[in-house]
Amino acid sequence: MEVKVVLLTGGSSGIGAATAHLLADAGMKVYAASRRGTIDRPQDGIVPVALDVNDAAGTEALVARIVQAEGRLDAVICNAGNGIFGPVEGTLESEARAQFETTYFGSLKSIQACLPVFRKQGFGRIITITSVMAVLQLPFQGFYSSAKAALLSLSQSLSMELQDSGIQCCSILPGDVATGFTAARKINQAGSDPTSPYKERMERNLRKIEHDELGGMSPEVIGREILKQLRRKRMSVRVIPRLDYKLVGLLVRILPSRTALFMISRLYN
Ligand SMILES: NC(=O)c1ccc[n+]([C@@H]2O[C@H](COP(=O)([O-])OP(=O)(O)OC[C@H]3O[C@@H](n4cnc5c(N)ncnc54)[C@H](OP(=O)(O)O)[C@@H]3O)[C@@H](O)[C@H]2O)c1
Repeated sequence: MEVKVVLLTGGSSGIGAATAHLLADAGMKVYAASRRGTIDRPQDGIVPVALDVNDAAGTEALVARIVQAEGRLDAVICNAGNGIFGPVEGTLESEARAQFETTYFGSLKSIQACLPVFRKQGFGRIITITSVMAVLQLPFQGFYSSAKAALLSLSQSLSMELQDSGIQCCSILPGDVATGFTAARKINQAGSDPTSPYKERMERNLRKIEHDELGGMSPEVIGREILKQLRRKRMSVRVIPRLDYKLVGLLVRILPSRTALFMISRLYN
C-alpha cells in the first residue's frame, strides 16, 4: 500500500517542517502537529494542528479526526522533542522526567493512538526520530541520550511484536542538524550552577555541541531519509543518515566500551 496520509509530530519547525514540505511535495497529506500549531510556510497538503504530544486524549481525538476526514491514516512520524543539558549529579528528578515525557512517553502516546487504526487497515508505518546519541553517549546529556535510547529500544521491540501485521517500524538516528533545537535546549539548574565542580567542562562541552549543531546538516537531509523509508516496501529498522555518522555509529558498536568512551571524552569532556 502507498503512504498517502501522515501524522507528523513536531511539525512547526526544523526536521518536522522540512519533512512536512518534502512529503507534501511528494503528494502526501500531512497533519503537522505541534504546540504552536503552525508551519513556517503554508503549503497545500499540509494541515498544521495544535497538539501537545503529552496530551493522550488530544492525540486520540486528532487521530480520529484524521481518519474521519481522510478515511485512512498510513503513517505516524514521532519527531516532537527537545533536549536538556546538565550533569547527572544534582539534576532534579522532575527535570529528568520532563525529558522522558515528551521524547519517550509523548511518542508512545502517538504510537498507541495510531496502532488500532493501522491494525484495522492491516497497514501502517511508524517512524521514530531518535538520535545518534541513542547509541553514543555524551557527558552532560545523559537524560537526552537515555530517553532517545529508550525510544529506539521501544521501536525495535515493537517491530518484532508487529511481525506479520502489515505494520512496520523504523527509527532514524540523526547526527547534528541545524534547527531550533539548539536554542530550545534547556540548561537545567545543576547545568548552570556557577559553583558546580563541572562548570568549566560543561561550558566547553556546551560550546562544542552548539557549534556542531549550528554547523550541522540541513533538516532536509533527515526529511529525505524519512521520505525514502516511507516509499520503501520494507523500511529499515534503524537508519543513521550520512556516511560520517554511520561510521561513528559503527565504531561505537565495534570498539570496546572503554576505548569508545575514552575517545568521546577526549572530544567532549
Ligand atoms: N537538531 C539536532 O541536532 C537533532 C539531532 C538528533 C535528533 N534530533 C531530534 O529531532 C527531532 C526534531 O528536532 P529539531 O532538531 O527539528 O528541533 P526543533 O526545530 O526545535 O523542532 C522541535 C519540534 O518539536 C515540537 N515540540 C516540542 N515539544 C512538543 C510537544 N510537547 N508537543 C508537540 N510538539 C512539540 C516543536 O514545536 P512546538 O514548540 O510548537 O511545540 C518543534 O516543532 C527531536 O526529536 C530531536 O530530539 C535533533
